This record gives sequence, structure tokens and C-alpha cells, in this order.
Amino acid sequence: MKERPVVAESEMLRQREFMKLVEKMEDRPRSYHIVSMGCQMNERDSESIAGMLREMGMRPEPVRENADLILYNTCCVRENAENKALGNVIWLKELKKEKPDLMICVGGCMTQEKGMAAMMKARYPFIDLIYGTHNLYKLPEYVYRVLAEKRPVVEIMDIDGEVVEGMPEARRNRFNAFVNIMYGCDNFCTYCIVPYVRGRERSREPEAVIAECVRLQDEGAQEIMLLGQNVNSYRGGGAEFAELLYRIDRLGIPRIRFMTSHPKDLSDELIHAFAELRHLMPQLHLPVQSGSDEILRRMNRRYTRAHYLELVQKLRAACPDIGLTSDIIVGFPGETLEQFEETLSLVETVRFDAAYTFIYSPRKGTRAAEYPDETPYEVKSELIQRLIDLQQAISLEALKAQVGKRETVLVEAVSTRDSASVGGKTPRGMMVNFPGKPDLIGKMADVEITSAGRNTLRGRML
Ligand code: 5AD
Ligand code: SF4
Repeated sequence: MKERPVVAESEMLRQREFMKLVEKMEDRPRSYHIVSMGCQMNERDSESIAGMLREMGMRPEPVRENADLILYNTCCVRENAENKALGNVIWLKELKKEKPDLMICVGGCMTQEKGMAAMMKARYPFIDLIYGTHNLYKLPEYVYRVLAEKRPVVEIMDIDGEVVEGMPEARRNRFNAFVNIMYGCDNFCTYCIVPYVRGRERSREPEAVIAECVRLQDEGAQEIMLLGQNVNSYRGGGAEFAELLYRIDRLGIPRIRFMTSHPKDLSDELIHAFAELRHLMPQLHLPVQSGSDEILRRMNRRYTRAHYLELVQKLRAACPDIGLTSDIIVGFPGETLEQFEETLSLVETVRFDAAYTFIYSPRKGTRAAEYPDETPYEVKSELIQRLIDLQQAISLEALKAQVGKRETVLVEAVSTRDSASVGGKTPRGMMVNFPGKPDLIGKMADVEITSAGRNTLRGRML
């Protein structure tokens, strides 16, 4: 992976000028509501978007219908994500009839897809701003133009490869923070649209990452999640990912996690880091996608089932308590019943704490979209249910094995089911709810695990 130029500081200063210009405009929106779809990378982008909108003088509005500016940060990894985004946009047309001054912005991975922006411009002329993934940092300029020119702005940039530093940000909270370390993906798994919409792999300089972590630590961060489509191929300023982790570990932030990892790039040094580093949490998301060598080959994953199982064994040898999670695709074109059953047997062998399972969704422009696919959707639905049932039984077993243990939980929020309880994660990444007051949020609490539910644990504070 190449190191790429950073977007010039002068460009960020230019954008800051636009933020000031917008702030001074009489008829500008006063409040914003962001709908963030998809992965953590999008969530992190939404924090930058929120930062820019705030600098333009807008305040967050929790109720979407009440906001003066609504922004959809979209995802396109599967067709249903796209349908959801488009469905929402169509609904906005009605809202705009009632509120003609409403500013509607749509950006992110879906709009970056080839031909999508042109289609949206033609079919949804009520959208005020359409931008992509590579020009997010120009949002202030675009908002200014929409207001000054009083007509829609549609701008998608094809150039990628730049790293943008110094964007404003409004973080979700002070105690757990996302930190991007690299962008894009060069792997071209045959089913995946990400390389087409997020561009080529490029890493941030380690100094920039460290400086951000230090700042977050000063602001009270208890946990940081390092983000990238494939963090294992991080290469910034000559440093590999494991080296970066060692440097971050020395800062002393209590908890470090990262995602996502590609099995083909998971190095022995990184496995070793799980044994050595004090603050690296014993949790790894390691998408396997399939348990069949033939399907893995046709997915262009570049590892075998045996290699994956070997990684699992090494990880558990280095860190016996590590919690592994995964992503699995069912119904890849041409997948036979036997090949699907190889995935079941892999799941049974590895025993993931949790797995995200998806029915294959053809994405235009990817190689697998051209492969013949004769299995009806109903059959795929039945198969995925078998996988879900198996994984649920294994997840429940993993949760039950925690009962009686004492764990330190970083409290994240009031429990959604019970307002007298709070919830947070154990080092292994399992969610625990326990009776407690909201003032625990953002703090570490020692908890004894008392019982296991379907997806979460219950406990009591010690
Ligand atoms: N269909 C189904 N699932 C997909 N994923 C990526 N692309 C597709 C697709 N076309 C899944 C992979 C990936 C996760 C983020 O989404 O499992 O790891
Ligand atoms: Fe998509 Fe594969 Fe890259 Fe992950 S590694 S983003 S699945 S192309």
C-alpha cells in the first residue's frame, strides 16, 4: 500500500472560510440531523460532518422532522442498505413540501457508486446536495453554494488516495472514540463494492494517529477503536500495524480495540501483541466469509480454511481468553449445499462469540455479480436460518461460560430495556447490563456476571 499525500492544509483553511461565510448567512439552516447508515467508518465520518455543521453555526436536532438540514450518510455494501437510503429520501420529498426551506443532503458510499448521483439528480430533484466519499471535506463549500446559488449541487470526485487531516469533529462522547488509521481497500473480494466506493488503501501517518490518541486521552478517552477496512495492511511512514499498536499501547489509554482485520494479513507480530500489550483488549473481529476453500477462492479471499483455523489456534495460544467474532456470507453464486455445510462445520469448530451473517447480495460492478447464481432466494433464507440457529446456540454457550466471573465493564449507556440499569462491555467485548445509575456512564465498574441472556449478560456491581 502506498502512502499518499495529505490534503493540503491550505484547502482545510479554505473550507474553514466557507464555514465562517455560512455562519454569517441570514437564511442558513439553524439545526441539523444526521442519519448515519452502515459501518463504524461512516459513523466516524458523521462525527466530522457534525463538527463542520456546528462550525457553520448549526445545533444538533434529535428529531429528524424538526431539523432545518437533514443529511443522510449512506451505505451500499448490500442492496437492502441502498433500498433503505432511497426509501428514506423519497419520504423526504413529502417533508419538503411542508417545509420548503429544508436542506436535504445525501452523501457517502451509495452516492459514490457509478451512475448513482446522476440517477438521483434526475429522479430526486428536491435533494439540495449530493456528494460522495472523496469530497466530504468540501461540505462547507457545498452548503455555501446551495445557499448562495439557490440550486442543487451535485459533486462526486473520482480522485481518491488522499488523506484528510484537520477536519472539525463533534464526537459521540468523550470516553470511547473511533480513530481512523487507514482508508480504502485494495483487496477486491469479488462480492464487495467497498474498493469501488472507498478507493485505494492509504494510511495516515503514525504521528497523526498518535497525536489524535493523545488528544483524546487528554479529553478523557477510556477506550479507542482503531478503524480501517483492513487495518492489518496499515503502513504509515514505514510502520506496520503491530508497531503502531505497540506505540499506542504505551500511551496508557485503558482500552484499545481495532477493526476490521483480513485473515490473509494477520501477522504473527500482531498475534503476539495480544499476548504482550497491556491495553489491547482480548477481542478480534476476523471475518471468515466462508468455510469452503473453493468458495474462498472464488471470493478472492486469498486464504484457506486451514490457514484460518491455524490463525484461530495461534490467537488462542497467545491469548486464551480472546473473544472472536466474524462475518459470514451465505448463498455466494454457485455455492453448493456441501460448501455451505463446510461453513457450518467451521463455525462449529471455531466457536465464535458472535457472527454477523448475510445473504449474498449482488453489487453492480463487482466480479461476482457476473457469476451465474441459480439458488433461489427462499433456499438461501432457509440456509442462513440454519447458520443463525447454530451460531445462536454457540453464542449462548459463550455467554453462559462467563457467569460467575468478575469483569471490569466500561459503562456506555442506560440500558434500553430497563432504565434502572446501565450497560457496557467486558474486555472480551460482551455486553453486560446491571443495576446502576447514569452517573456511571463513561466510567469503569467492577461487576460480577450473574446470568446470561440471548445476546447479553446480566450482572451486579461489586
Ligand atoms: N453481499 C453480502 N454480504 C456482503 N458483505 C460485503 N459485501 C457483501 C455482499 N455483496 C459482508 C461481508 C463483509 C461485511 C461488512 O459485509 O461479510 O465482511
Ligand atoms: Fe470488501 Fe474484502 Fe475489502 Fe473487506 S477486505 S472491504 S470484504 S474488498
